[in-house]
Amino acid sequence: MNKETLTWVGKWTFILAAAGSAVGLGNIWGFPYKAGTNGGGAFVLIYLGCILIIGLPIMISEIMLGKRYRGSPVSTMKDAATESASSSNWQAIGWGGLIAGVVILSFYSVLAGICLNYIFISLGLEGEIDSIAKFQQVTSSPLQLLLWHTIFILITAWIIAAGVISGIERMVKLLMPMLFILMIIMVINAFINGNFSQAFSFLFSPDFSAVTANTYLSAMGQAFFSLSLGMGAIMCYGAYMSPDQEIYESSAIVAGLDTLIAMLAGLAIFPIIFAYGVEPNSGPGLVFISLLSIFADLPFGNIIGGLFFLLLSIAALSSSISLLEPSVAYFAEKNILSRPIASFMLAGIAWFIGLGSLLSFNVWSEYTFIGSRNFLDSMDLLANQFLLPLGGLFVAIFAGWKLNPSIAKAELGGSEFVFRLWQFFIRFISPVLVFGIFIFQLI
Ligand code: PHE
Repeated sequence: MNKETLTWVGKWTFILAAAGSAVGLGNIWGFPYKAGTNGGGAFVLIYLGCILIIGLPIMISEIMLGKRYRGSPVSTMKDAATESASSSNWQAIGWGGLIAGVVILSFYSVLAGICLNYIFISLGLEGEIDSIAKFQQVTSSPLQLLLWHTIFILITAWIIAAGVISGIERMVKLLMPMLFILMIIMVINAFINGNFSQAFSFLFSPDFSAVTANTYLSAMGQAFFSLSLGMGAIMCYGAYMSPDQEIYESSAIVAGLDTLIAMLAGLAIFPIIFAYGVEPNSGPGLVFISLLSIFADLPFGNIIGGLFFLLLSIAALSSSISLLEPSVAYFAEKNILSRPIASFMLAGIAWFIGLGSLLSFNVWSEYTFIGSRNFLDSMDLLANQFLLPLGGLFVAIFAGWKLNPSIAKAELGGSEFVFRLWQFFIRFISPVLVFGIFIFQLI
């Protein structure tokens, strides 16, 4: 198939697909959990700052590179470097991205599998439930986790094997607005039945006295993860963008939607956490535990809960396919492997690494890998706080300093002022901040 003919069908298709990639477990599971363990307000403020001044300029750069060079992240970076007479070593950004994608998919699929399982747990709700005990029960069985992890990753691989374009638009167009509406209903519920004022001040009144270097690093990592940046997912999707599409506007819409969904998740979940006396820093189980308590108390909670976890699983699926697509695109474009074989093989590798995350809930719960972290937390740390920001840092350096500015200008279009603004951020602000936050962590 000719690469040039592979374009998203309409203006909104790219936006929907990129939003589908960005909105996922990162927003609804990751954001509340990380905000909770990092003390709330200050984390949220730093996170929002990172989205705006680090994430947005890098997102614009990734889309721009993808749109111009139209390949997998590896060949996009290689062609970009060649055209600007830079070293072909820049393709290492693409390679790092492929690795990050597989590492993230490995634990993402385990968590998305828990979501799938929760569809049925919610549907079966009858009255009161001890949602903490339920989460422990679900995660204590390696076989049960394995079943759902396997199902989720097989669905991901199957969609990628069949070709990425056709299904995404339809899926996202219908289901994202539904997820959005359901989130609003849950925020209203939290307002009525939860401790909204305590949650609001927890999330939005920053206490900088508790901020450490690690707060910055995890907020920045969360921003990269949530926006799907630093590993080529958005770059890869940009490759299918139609040539006349506005990049600034699309990036702002995607980043805005992603942030909005994360904030809604926080506002839906924290009031309930405070009202029910759950500790905000209770870790990866936080969201599953609090959501189930919400649904157990709502009228028709079993149906609403089932629907919610179904929509969340689909949001996770539209993210997981963007984790796998860059590496499959690479193998397919080089004719090394066919698309289906590459999909199932790479998904198989992610599945295997995922076993470690799955076991960290039970059999391996005592084993630590990086620092005092279990396997899941270590993979999460490796990807969010290391691989993605590093990928983003190099994308920023390349786009700001190595890429011929006339190329960037031609692709980005728009006014001279906005171009200069982007250029200023991508040269001086984004890379310096990412680097600074890394260094701050080391000293
Ligand atoms: N952004 C996705 C989420 O929030 C996860 C993701 C990260 C997807 C990196 C692609 C690349 O769930």
